Amino acid sequence: MSNTAQIKEVQAYIESKINEKPEIGLILGSGLGVLGEEIENPTAIPYENIPHFPTSTVEGHKGQLIIGKLKGKTVVAMQGRFHFYEGYSLDLVTFPVRVMKAMGVKKIIVTNAAGGVNESFSPGDLMLIKDHINLTGHNPLIGPNDESFGVRFPDMSDAYTPALREIARNVAEKNGIALKEGIYAGLTGPSYETPAEIRMLRILGGDAVGMSTVPEVIVARHAGMEILGISCISNMAAGILPQPLSHEEVMETAEKVKNTFLTLVKGIIEEM
Ligand code: HPA
Repeated sequence: MSNTAQIKEVQAYIESKINEKPEIGLILGSGLGVLGEEIENPTAIPYENIPHFPTSTVEGHKGQLIIGKLKGKTVVAMQGRFHFYEGYSLDLVTFPVRVMKAMGVKKIIVTNAAGGVNESFSPGDLMLIKDHINLTGHNPLIGPNDESFGVRFPDMSDAYTPALREIARNVAEKNGIALKEGIYAGLTGPSYETPAEIRMLRILGGDAVGMSTVPEVIVARHAGMEILGISCISNMAAGILPQPLSHEEVMETAEKVKNTFLTLVKGIIEEM
């Protein structure tokens, strides 16, 4: 079955369960799925029930799609995303973005937990993604280009929509949130980086490092969607502090920053 046919099948399946078309898509990163619990009149669809969706395996990811109302807007949220390091193809990693696009979603908020490369950051900081550096060595658009999805050579100059970043800054200021802004360096993982790699990322201009987001953003941009990216700095990247890195720390920090994260993202959705 072609990718297009699969997208249509999933779109039809989801639309059969909901009454209103979602206008905003949310991809919730490690420990940030809590936003899904704020959705009113939710329709939750476990990934295992959705045709062609893999069941997300990473701890802290629930693995369900939630459709409902947030700040008066109809949203579709992914509680748990698919990662390249889990062994899924980039086609599969980015499949939900294409489904969202098919359902009529025009704006997407991508969130993630990331390591702080910029030494002025602290764990618990929230960082607005200004731009990214794709260091995965891969691109989800490799292969024949389906012109109905987008152009062969999509422009990535303003991948993270300036107007949405402006909204995010304003909402942060209004709520007294010290929102950082910076460049997200995307690697495949799953091993964390070495201290030497983190020094390299800093020289390259990276402020945060993570193992997601880049493929989804490339596909969303290809599809002409507006994109907002927010990283939760869950830990300082390797070699900055004497302690080792762990997924537990990532989850703990996300839990601590939960309320600020919710205020920020809900405030942004209200203004979108
Ligand atoms: N490196 C890569 N990915 C991450 C990190 C990190 O330090 N923290 C959370 N996701």
